[in-house]
Amino acid sequence: MSKENSYNYTVVRQFTVATILWGVVGMLVGVIIAAQLAWPELNMGVPWLSFGRLRPLHTNAVIFAFGGCALMATSYYVVQRTCQVRLFSDFLAAFTFWGWQLVIVGAAISLPLGLTRGKEYAELEWPLTILIAVVWVAYAVVFFGTLIKRKVQHIYVANWFYGAFIIAVAILHIVNGMTMPATLTKSYSMYSGAQDAMIQWWYGHNAVGFFLTAGFLGMMYYFIPKQVNRPVYSYRLSIVHFWALIFTYMWAGPHHLHYTALPDWTQSLGMVFSLILLAPSWGGMINGMMTLSGAWHQLRTDPILKFLVVSLSFYGMSTFEGPMMAIKTVNALSHYTDWTIGHVHSGALGWVGFVTMGAMYYLIPRLSGKTQMWSKDLIEIHFWVATIGIVLYIAAMWIAGVMQGLMWRAVNADGTLTYTFVESVKATYPYYVIRLMGGLMYLSGMLVMAYNTWRTMRGTELAVAPIPAVTNAAH
Ligand code: HEM
Ligand code: HEM
Repeated sequence: MSKENSYNYTVVRQFTVATILWGVVGMLVGVIIAAQLAWPELNMGVPWLSFGRLRPLHTNAVIFAFGGCALMATSYYVVQRTCQVRLFSDFLAAFTFWGWQLVIVGAAISLPLGLTRGKEYAELEWPLTILIAVVWVAYAVVFFGTLIKRKVQHIYVANWFYGAFIIAVAILHIVNGMTMPATLTKSYSMYSGAQDAMIQWWYGHNAVGFFLTAGFLGMMYYFIPKQVNRPVYSYRLSIVHFWALIFTYMWAGPHHLHYTALPDWTQSLGMVFSLILLAPSWGGMINGMMTLSGAWHQLRTDPILKFLVVSLSFYGMSTFEGPMMAIKTVNALSHYTDWTIGHVHSGALGWVGFVTMGAMYYLIPRLSGKTQMWSKDLIEIHFWVATIGIVLYIAAMWIAGVMQGLMWRAVNADGTLTYTFVESVKATYPYYVIRLMGGLMYLSGMLVMAYNTWRTMRGTELAVAPIPAVTNAAH
């Protein structure tokens, strides 16, 4: 077969392996910082290992390394299969892989050294910020170039979500990344004061909206129909879902800055748009869920489908919780507490993590010429260990968060505070230990997946046939 008539699976395979590798690393760092919060002595007096430096390493590793590689692997796979053409450029695709790995290694070195722009989720110093922009533009060229040379007229909805994610992240990254270099390793934001905060959380919230949501919805719209072997429940709903979601997300950022120096009306606007956001989010979740109608029995026997469906449940849960937390009076209680951390991880572990794992289990055998994963039982074990891990993690954080909020606002009859701050820290201790146990379970599941992947890729079992050329993915 000539190269032009085949798909580029090399880059998909590379990103798939990288997803698992960085998943293990990022979650291990998560477990370490969770242990440090329970036992601060684990900072061990070494600056590079201190919580303040490892925390951004964790967030960068799980979001941009684990999540980013998963998004690139699946988007390259999906765009080729649904457009029935090879990637626009093998060279640029390889460049995005190696360039992205360079960014990750740069982050893994610079963050523990304490080099940071001090903006959450946009910590990397200016040379790395520029490298990200260059890699991202190459990614956009490969993705949209492939769309342009497609052989089918229709653009499948998953590609709309991936496309929006790629464009939005480019805009967010470049605008929030505007920085004035002072030295090679230090720069200062071009914005100041309330404007800086506003731009930072316009970025931060849309990083959630486009990186952690739109891109993964692209994954959902391809891999759920594929795994159940049925078309998307409502194609019309998927289009309404797309436009409503991307329009609404853009305005909700100020809910991260309630009761700050931001003008009051912007806070209220952010709150209202966050409440509206519930509708498209649930529209998408219902569309995914209903794709299983008539095929629910498959859930009993298919652990990959379990990952995909439970991920949608967590998506529904976190997108219900988010709008509630965006209500100013609720936020007055939840902000600064571990409730936020619980919300983050129900989205991150439940939604982002599980939809990724489902998609990876679908891809790995197909990319290594096998009919299925080496062990289905290990997928089942992974699923249950990780699910219990998430429940422990988020339940502990919810209880701890509400408890902290209530303790901080409790006042005696004479107006003095009922509790000192340190009393709330002490009361949180058992919940930090439970969260650590949950995190350890989630990480163990990831290690089981890594082992299963290695056995699948290394095994000699041959697929019945090479991957056939496709008809349109899901309909
Ligand atoms: C084994 C799994 C994991 C463990 C044990 C873990 C643990 C932690 C801990 C201890 C923190 C710091 C909380 C604090 O400052 O009080 C944190 C923050 C965070 N983690 Fe994880 N994590 C895990 C997986 C993930 C994954 C897979 C993602 C994303 C896909 C993620 C995204 C985040 C984010 C965004 C924050 C910052 C939250 C905020 O600033 O509000 N984590 N994690
Ligand atoms: C309708 C959808 C959602 C809305 C309206 C929403 C709303 C919120 C609100 C109000 C906060 C607390 C802000 C604060 O008090 O500082 C928050 C924090 C956060 N949410 Fe959501 N959320 C949504 C969905 C999600 C999903 C699906 C994820 C993850 C995949 C997610 C990830 C995060 C993260 C990482 C933070 C912490 C940001 C930080 O302070 O570092 N959210 N969200």
